[in-house]
Amino acid sequence: MKNIAIIGGGNLGAAIAEGLIKSKFVKPGNITVTRRNTEPLAYLAKQGVKITSDNEEAIRENDVILVAVKPYNVKEILKGLKHCFNPKKHILVSVITGVTISDLTGIVDHGVPIFRAMPNTAIAIQESVTCLCSVGATRKQVAYVTDLFNQLGITISIDENLMDAATVLGACGIAFALRFIRAATQGGIEIGFDARTANLIAAQTVNGAAGLLLKGSRHPEEEIDKVTTPRGCTIAGLNEMEHQGFSSSLIKGIVTSFEKIN
Ligand SMILES: NC(=O)c1ccc[n+]([C@@H]2O[C@H](COP(=O)([O-])OP(=O)(O)OC[C@H]3O[C@@H](n4cnc5c(N)ncnc54)[C@H](OP(=O)(O)O)[C@@H]3O)[C@@H](O)[C@H]2O)c1
Repeated sequence: MKNIAIIGGGNLGAAIAEGLIKSKFVKPGNITVTRRNTEPLAYLAKQGVKITSDNEEAIRENDVILVAVKPYNVKEILKGLKHCFNPKKHILVSVITGVTISDLTGIVDHGVPIFRAMPNTAIAIQESVTCLCSVGATRKQVAYVTDLFNQLGITISIDENLMDAATVLGACGIAFALRFIRAATQGGIEIGFDARTANLIAAQTVNGAAGLLLKGSRHPEEEIDKVTTPRGCTIAGLNEMEHQGFSSSLIKGIVTSFEKIN
């Protein structure tokens, strides 16, 4: 079992630690989480996770170094830690948005295998989709890091040139899906439900729809055909949504996010 250090125990870093413990992928005592103000991590310390502000020690004592600091901090933080990395021991995994493997190689510059991962916030409940690419890693190391993120949802291997697209579709996608649920909830209230019930029905319906695709490996349109009775209410509502630009607005929103990220 490898020892894992998470440099930057904020929202994402702490959620990753929690998910790895829950999945039993690693024992709490084999995880170290760092941040400058360690107080918010007391709940992880109670579970047996090592908490520290000492990044150097964390890197020296661990094998997998997962960096989850803010993009504007990473250069400064990793530059000061360059001398701690050992290519024979370490694997560097970055979940930092917009920071390329080439940027990281430029900072660490040590022959250390480098992974870039793009999860989303559903990692907190082990339901992320994490897109992953790497440079300089062996097959065994790729399998290990893939397995690590599989504990936190599903993992998809991609070329690095698709990382921005993965950020939009997967990470920003959480917000797009949630806005759909919110709008459906508002519609549900207008046709008679209280907000709480409407939200529950809308959220579980999206969960069920996603499950039909993920567990049944079917095409969305195949499932839509099953609920669209000729002259029925589903097709009437669906077509009205399309007349109002439903699919088009989603596609345009995704493309706009992608243009913004570049
Ligand atoms: N949230 C998402 O949906 C998502 C998805 C994919 C990727 N990401 C990426 O994940 C990264 C983290 O995002 P987040 O939302 O978790 O941000 P966050 O909550 O701000 O976490 C960053 C953490 O880094 C710590 N930190 C700052 N300087 C440090 C240092 N010198 N040594 C150790 N820790 C230090 C901060 O704590 P202190 O101030 O106490 O040190 C903070 O807890 C970002 O780069 C983001 O782009 C986020």
